[in-house]
Amino acid sequence: MQPDVATIATKLRHQLSAHLADEGWLHSPAWRAALEAVPRHEFVPCFYREIDAPGLTTWTPVTADLLGVEEWLRQAYADNTLITQFDGQETDWTDPKPIVGAHPTSSSTLPALVVHMLEELQLDDGMTVMEIGTGTGYSTALMCHRLSPDRITSIETDPDVAVRARDALTRCGYTPRLVIGDGLAGDPDGAPYDRTIATCGVRHIPYTWVRQTRPGGLILATLRGWMRSLGLVRLTIDHDGHAEGRFIDSNPSFMIARQQDAPASLGMIPSPGDGASRSTPYGPDVLTAARYGFVAQLAMPGARFFSMPADDGTMCTYVLDGTNESFAVLTPKSGDAWNVRQGGPIALWDVLENSLDTWRKAGAPKPTEFGVTVTEASQRVWLGAPDGPSWRLPTPADTNGLA
Ligand SMILES: C[S@@+](CC[C@H](N)C(=O)[O-])C[C@H]1O[C@@H](n2cnc3c(N)ncnc32)[C@H](O)[C@@H]1O
Repeated sequence: MQPDVATIATKLRHQLSAHLADEGWLHSPAWRAALEAVPRHEFVPCFYREIDAPGLTTWTPVTADLLGVEEWLRQAYADNTLITQFDGQETDWTDPKPIVGAHPTSSSTLPALVVHMLEELQLDDGMTVMEIGTGTGYSTALMCHRLSPDRITSIETDPDVAVRARDALTRCGYTPRLVIGDGLAGDPDGAPYDRTIATCGVRHIPYTWVRQTRPGGLILATLRGWMRSLGLVRLTIDHDGHAEGRFIDSNPSFMIARQQDAPASLGMIPSPGDGASRSTPYGPDVLTAARYGFVAQLAMPGARFFSMPADDGTMCTYVLDGTNESFAVLTPKSGDAWNVRQGGPIALWDVLENSLDTWRKAGAPKPTEFGVTVTEASQRVWLGAPDGPSWRLPTPADTNGLA
């Protein structure tokens, strides 16, 4: 006998919403009703799960045909991110194959994060929303259920992803305004919106979003760099065209907006004799440690890093800013000390040490003690209050269009 998809899916949706409420993500009855009504499985007929395998990361497809209807549904309603596209290329959903060493470019986001963001969006009946990053269309559908499809606009940059989302939304009876294009430009035709929400990460807040969100309205987005995510920020628009607000969560990490992705090349790798050396108390751990990494990302917005052994076997960490060819190379010294060799127009490690000193003098506060101010001319992340110590976010004006 064929399993009854609708009955199983309804039960799994209720289990998922109970789980998200228990975990403290889901609070309001309106979002609970949306979560229990919208069939996530319709948006993910085929998705990919990472598997443990030696070597390059391997992804295995999940469909009803491959695993059986019940297992596919169980995974579709798990509190997991479901990857649906790699390297900007669609896969054949009728005959999907394992994928090795590819870069995820679209997904149905972790339900806990979707719900967390929707709760933090502070929607009221009758409001209008602009979403950037339609993806599978699942979060769009939740908002259609909560408000009404005619209040929702969703923008997706990838035409193939957008078409699949449109099909799924239509199957579920939702007909929001769907735009194919670069969401960084927003949607001037539908503006102004009460709320703008981005489900792809950005290096700075596109000023178009500020223009296209009503005074008193909110922008909710994840700021990130090329090293790591800074976190989820909620900005309120004022009557002077400024947007300001605090980080409300440092954990969320989204795929970066495709137009802001790091250049394929890391830039010039310095030769062993390049630059000037000195010792430093900070080693490469500060690039990855929870709160230190946040400050490192702020201090070096154009940087990326990797570690590689030198010819004599010493492990070197290269921090490279390809936007201006600056570099810092870290090697261990005796005890806790490190050697740093810096070169290029910006002494990256000096800038980082100054930022860490400022942050530590303030008591090493957590990311939610930081906030963001966006004006047409510049964007700053500040510590404590808008007139506190601050770091510029890379905008196209600052970076010759590289932001
Ligand atoms: C994490 S997925 C979105 C998840 C989606 N909201 C859902 O519930 O399924 C991020 C999406 O943002 C899209 N994206 C990336 N850059 C974009 C841009 N500049 N404008 C619009 N969409 C973009 C990607 O193609 C991808 O589909």
